[in-house]
Amino acid sequence: MNILILGSGGREHSLAWAVKQNPKCDRLIVAPGNAGIAEIAECAGLDIENGGAVVTFADENAIDFVIVGPEAPLAAGVADRLRDAGILVFGPSEAAAKLEASKSFTKAICDAAGAPTAAYAHFRDLDAAKAYVDAQGVPIVIKADGLAAGKGVIIAETLNDAHAALNDMFGGSFGAAGAEVVIEEFMEGEEASFFVLCDGETVLPIGTAQDHKRVGDGDTGPNTGGMGAYSPAPVMTDAVTDAALNEIVRPTMAEMARRGTPYQGVLFVGLMIQNGAPRLVEYNVRFGDPECQVLMMRLGAQALDLMQAATEGRLDQARVNWADDHALSVVMAAQGYPGGYTKGTVIEGLDGLPEDSHHMVFHAGTARRDGQYTANGGRVLAVTARAGSLAEARDKAYQMVDQINWPDGFCRKDIGWRAL
Ligand code: AMP
Ligand code: GLY
Repeated sequence: MNILILGSGGREHSLAWAVKQNPKCDRLIVAPGNAGIAEIAECAGLDIENGGAVVTFADENAIDFVIVGPEAPLAAGVADRLRDAGILVFGPSEAAAKLEASKSFTKAICDAAGAPTAAYAHFRDLDAAKAYVDAQGVPIVIKADGLAAGKGVIIAETLNDAHAALNDMFGGSFGAAGAEVVIEEFMEGEEASFFVLCDGETVLPIGTAQDHKRVGDGDTGPNTGGMGAYSPAPVMTDAVTDAALNEIVRPTMAEMARRGTPYQGVLFVGLMIQNGAPRLVEYNVRFGDPECQVLMMRLGAQALDLMQAATEGRLDQARVNWADDHALSVVMAAQGYPGGYTKGTVIEGLDGLPEDSHHMVFHAGTARRDGQYTANGGRVLAVTARAGSLAEARDKAYQMVDQINWPDGFCRKDIGWRAL
């Protein structure tokens, strides 16, 4: 099989790493990829949000299967264009990708499906939104309706903060994403991410994870795209998993099918769990980053078979082979992230590190210059290890971190603390 993966981050590096181990994979291209991905696959410059360009590229390169990494191409209908052209593609249609691209859409689906989630209201008018916040009180959660690269959520602890957030969003700080605003009840509890594959009908769980969104140790400081993750998530017991499947995921998938927009791909189910009861925080229509890195490290080559089964409507016959193991990933970011940071600083020590089924440094944002790796983004590396226990996986990951010489980078020192 000739396989094309769309994307350029640590998520896509880990997808490529798993896919490449499967003997079914003949040729592997990642577009646009990065310097780490270039070690294991061909990288190609391509505007991945342009469906026509992706179809042409896939035709020219005799691609049999396309895996879409990030949400933007999905929200732009790239999977639809590929399917229309008869190319097998893992990832939902534009209509189904609204589960991530519009928070008010997801809330309406939850209502129709009876899926437990935070109480909410949505607004297109600033004064009405402020009046609602005043009536509800704080803490309260304010969200830009559309895609805002993970930055469109404000948890307001005071009415002043809530009003400021509303002024900001309606004032255009998130562009079109903030023209509509969802205001939600603040949910207490422990968060976990649950990943399932869906082929439009059948739902197949493929793993759980927890990530660390805040930049600082002890979960302090501003939100980021994720500073580390581990799998499995201890809070996702069998009972919580069953409740999430039966009360949230399956009813959502059934409602999507009923509307004529069945969901195919991976669904990232963000949950808040309190007293053993899960409620939905959000859906994403793609793997998380760095959650994907820990899932791929645990799944390995079978990830390709599972994604193919989802694409071909065969999930009812698919099985996941789980080892009773743990994986943990530590993100190394450029100093300053998630605020301003510089690119181009040199990273040393990567070449001496082990690369096997239990150790991988996935590249999130690197480039190659004069034979050296340089930082080319905010999140730059995802140092990932697998072991029989979470503590062992953590120790191995931090041993690798210690061997990386990158004075302009930093990482959290406490990934996994909640579970350890
Ligand atoms: P999202 O972009 O929807 O994932 O939101 C980012 C983060 O904000 C989530 O991971 C939660 O930690 C938090 N969050 C979002 N909605 C709520 C809510 N209704 N109650 C409590 N925390 C929330
Ligand atoms: N790590 C969270 C995300 O990928 O959205």
